[in-house]
Amino acid sequence: MGAHTLISQGKKNTYPGIFLTFEGGDGSGKSTQIERLASRLRACGYDVVLTREPGGTELGVRIRNLLLHSGEVSPRAEALLYAADRAHNIATKVSPALERGAVVLADRYLDSSVAYQGAARELGSQEVRDLSLWASEGLLPDRTILLDVPVNLGRERVGKTQDRIEAAGYEFHEAVRCEYLKLAEREPERWVRVEGVGSIDEVAARVYEAVVDLFEKNPTESEVRA
Ligand code: ADP
Ligand code: TYD
Repeated sequence: MGAHTLISQGKKNTYPGIFLTFEGGDGSGKSTQIERLASRLRACGYDVVLTREPGGTELGVRIRNLLLHSGEVSPRAEALLYAADRAHNIATKVSPALERGAVVLADRYLDSSVAYQGAARELGSQEVRDLSLWASEGLLPDRTILLDVPVNLGRERVGKTQDRIEAAGYEFHEAVRCEYLKLAEREPERWVRVEGVGSIDEVAARVYEAVVDLFEKNPTESEVRA
């Protein structure tokens, strides 16, 4: 694996690992696809670390509970809690893994805050992005996969048991999807939009195509199934 260099806000980050983030609406298939990609990469010998936001660390699990299952949270408090969870996740889990050369697959990262708090909660995309970059010391992913599905399909997949954010209305979730599509268009060197409608196998093949160039050792489908 070669060294990866990222320039973010004038700051240069170098580490030997690979940082991939998965974004998309609720029920778009992120967790399912991350598991599939992780198995495939592990079969090839990669050291794969999975994380999620909110809730990738012990502290994060407590913050997640406050955010999703503990009643009202005002919009700015919400943005700050997501940023606090992110700061701790990056400092204690993601950065050390990247430094030792691991592949980190993250179920959501700063673009979730830009789409949900910045756009859908109308706190301002740039302000929320800056807050997140401060929290994560400027770390940007090597690649971000946008799993794109129509809002209603995601809601159907999530089902009736919804957390505080999932229970926000259709317009909120449509604003999230619109912002994601804009972000992906604006920064094509980092983002790949992957069509999330289709069987789990079909989507997994699309995800693999979207990241395969980052890996030197590419497992074939038969090696993975073996
Ligand atoms: P997310 O992490 O984006 O919320 P999940 O991976 O948890 O999404 O998927 C939400 C639900 O939809 C799960 O029950 C999962 O099994 C199901 N699911 C995921 N991908 C597909 C797919 N391509 N087709 C049908 N159902 C799917
Ligand atoms: P989660 O269960 O991880 O997502 P999903 O339903 O896609 O599997 O729930 C996290 C919720 O928090 C989800 O509704 C998106 C929201 N969220 C934000 O609003 N801002 C953020 O910065 C992050 C990371 C998540």
